[in-house]
Amino acid sequence: MKTSHLYLFLHVLLAGGVSVRAFDPVTTTVAIGVGATLGRMILNYFRESCDSKWIAFNLTGLETDLENKLFGQHIASRIILKAVSGFMGNENPKKPLVLSLHGWTGTGKNFVSKLIAENIYKEGMDSSFVHVFTSTLHFPHPSQYLTYKSQLQQWIKGNVSNCERSMFIFDEMDKMHPGLIDSIKPYLDYYDKLDGVSYRKSIFIFLSNAGGDRIIQTALDFWNAGRNRNEIELKDLETLISLSVFNDNQSGFFHTSLIDKNLVDFFVPFLPLEYQHVVQCALSEMKVRGHEPDFEVAHKVAKDLVYFPKSERAFSVKGCKTIESKLDYYT
Ligand SMILES: Nc1ncnc2c1ncn2[C@@H]1O[C@H](COP(=O)(O)OP(=O)(O)OP(=O)(O)O)[C@@H](O)[C@H]1O
Ligand SMILES: *[C@@H]1O[C@H](CO)[C@@H](O)[C@H](O)[C@H]1NC(C)=O
Ligand SMILES: *[C@@H]1O[C@H](CO)[C@@H](O)[C@H](O)[C@H]1NC(C)=O
Ligand SMILES: *[C@@H]1O[C@H](CO)[C@@H](O)[C@H](O)[C@H]1NC(C)=O
Ligand SMILES: [Mg+2]
Repeated sequence: MKTSHLYLFLHVLLAGGVSVRAFDPVTTTVAIGVGATLGRMILNYFRESCDSKWIAFNLTGLETDLENKLFGQHIASRIILKAVSGFMGNENPKKPLVLSLHGWTGTGKNFVSKLIAENIYKEGMDSSFVHVFTSTLHFPHPSQYLTYKSQLQQWIKGNVSNCERSMFIFDEMDKMHPGLIDSIKPYLDYYDKLDGVSYRKSIFIFLSNAGGDRIIQTALDFWNAGRNRNEIELKDLETLISLSVFNDNQSGFFHTSLIDKNLVDFFVPFLPLEYQHVVQCALSEMKVRGHEPDFEVAHKVAKDLVYFPKSERAFSVKGCKTIESKLDYYT
């Protein structure tokens, strides 16, 4: 489709060139003017804009992605589908959607954020309406948090003024200065408008390892009791997470009033991944690379990883995180 439009564009330009030679200066000016306008229209056609052509929620897309691409996260999968589809289906939300994803390293938090973005924005993570802030990268020096604070507030305000369907992902939220977290609080709240800007259609996603140890403890209790991991329910974890994160004086994270003001709509726990999930990750990565799934290699890769606790060897220490590079090594 894109190529055919480009051809059209070239034809118009060439036609314009011919008329330049054939006609007097006035006609030429008109021809160039028309050509330029047309060119601009065509370029605008390809430029991402804040409308339904570029931003359209694909419910079946998200559902199948969560089902087929995300492994071992039955709780996260369910909450996210419900939360995002409810929010995107609501023409007039009262506040922005705020999700806080928690869990051990390599369990799929960034991966899920990407799946959400891909099923809302045509351009996925490359969309100019999706913004990722990584604490250690964008806000590395705690002493400069006042500077970061005004910068971040300007960014959020500027971007949402541009497009109310903006998405903000805060990675390594637990390493973010509490003052900085406090500074985004107003945007998450139930305000009709702040300074004439409405934030109610935006999505905020926080990623952190905070509360990960509590989630692991619960998963391990189930494992040791011989119970199926799929029996773990949100209620086994949700208050546990918000409490442990809230009371953790090490992570600056939720020391703020994000929690007691109920600004986070959903706390989403990510369970530690087991051997079987690592195998699935390896097979899935082969598929992405266009290779035939090779079970032998997948098991080799999975066996190569380190599992904890030492005695039970229940969960992968790095989740599925190093699978890609391990695959390079084996193939
Ligand atoms: N549950 C999962 N299902 C499928 N693939 C997964 C899963 N978890 C991780 N992966 C794979 O591993 C890679 C790394 O995971 P991801 O970056 O999402 O981890 P994370 O939870 O953000 O970890 P960290 O806390 O260290 O940032 C992903 O790109 C994805 O390919
Ligand atoms: C939504 O996602 C499904 C499954 O990935 C896909 O087949 C379909 O084409 C998508 N719809 C739109 C409008 O992009
Ligand atoms: C939007 O956010 C980005 C950071 O992701 C920032 O660089 C940019 O200046 C912001 N845009 C506006 C208009 O504030
Ligand atoms: C954090 O809390 C623990 C107990 O919950 C306490 O022992 C420790 O001194 C506290 N640390 C700081 C820096 O406040
Ligand atoms: Mg991550």
